[in-house]
Amino acid sequence: MDFVIEMENVSKVYKMGSSEYKALEDINLCIRKGEFVSIVGPSGAGKSTLMNIIGCLDTATSGRYILDGENTDCSDNKLAEIRNRKIGFIFQNYNLLPKLNVVENVELPLIYQGLSSRVIKEKVLESLERVGLSSHIKHKPPELSGGQKQRVAIARALATEPEILLADEPTGALDSKTGKEVMEMLKQLNREGNTIVLITHDHEIAQQAKRIITVRDGRITSDKKNTVSKDVAVTFENEVNPNEI
Ligand SMILES: Nc1ncnc2c1ncn2[C@@H]1O[C@H](COP(=O)(O)OP(=O)(O)OP(=O)(O)O)[C@@H](O)[C@H]1O
Ligand SMILES: [Mg+2]
Repeated sequence: MDFVIEMENVSKVYKMGSSEYKALEDINLCIRKGEFVSIVGPSGAGKSTLMNIIGCLDTATSGRYILDGENTDCSDNKLAEIRNRKIGFIFQNYNLLPKLNVVENVELPLIYQGLSSRVIKEKVLESLERVGLSSHIKHKPPELSGGQKQRVAIARALATEPEILLADEPTGALDSKTGKEVMEMLKQLNREGNTIVLITHDHEIAQQAKRIITVRDGRITSDKKNTVSKDVAVTFENEVNPNEI
């Protein structure tokens, strides 16, 4: 069994005073290690709600979510620990700390993991090399371009060697050329074996993943292999849709 995400009948209900809003309803979703999946849908569809649950930033109201074999129905502390170990986040607005330089930003999740300073240094420099930023290690975020900032964020996400890279509109704040470069980098990381889940409202961006899941009104309305991408024929050959198992 090589599923990294297993969701069974996941629902999310937001309570507002005496009223309730069902943002997700009966989500059944399995994602294998090494997949590159986009989750696309219009504003209000439930994408961020789903991303928050996938990324262990929030929990489902009902249903089951197993992340890399671990049940996420647990205490807040345990959930945070699972999140730190298994998820690398990439956000639209980078979420870098502006007063820290590139190295210090990438170090942060590793410091939380309690690693030795020698190991931290090695991992940080390796991650920065992977995103082609070794020459900018002393820069602070305001001294970097948008694309460079997103590459720092990707390096930070990679540094902990997470099970999933979870990207929320990673190109949303970038011009189209820089956005393409970031997408190429994500594709390359996927070719190297990283599992990527990308949340977007942009169909053109979604089309670059190998599997496209559409969410509408809190439900998955379609789940397709992306036959446009030439990588797909190889990856999905003779494979059954995990959701049909
Ligand atoms: N904390 C909350 N309390 C109440 N309702 C919420 C809360 N968060 C989200 N919702 C509602 O849940 C629905 C789904 O919201 P969500 O943020 O997941 O949408 P989205 O697909 O990410 O949209 P966008 O593309 O605009 O970011 C929306 O109708 C929203 O109003
Ligand atoms: Mg959203």
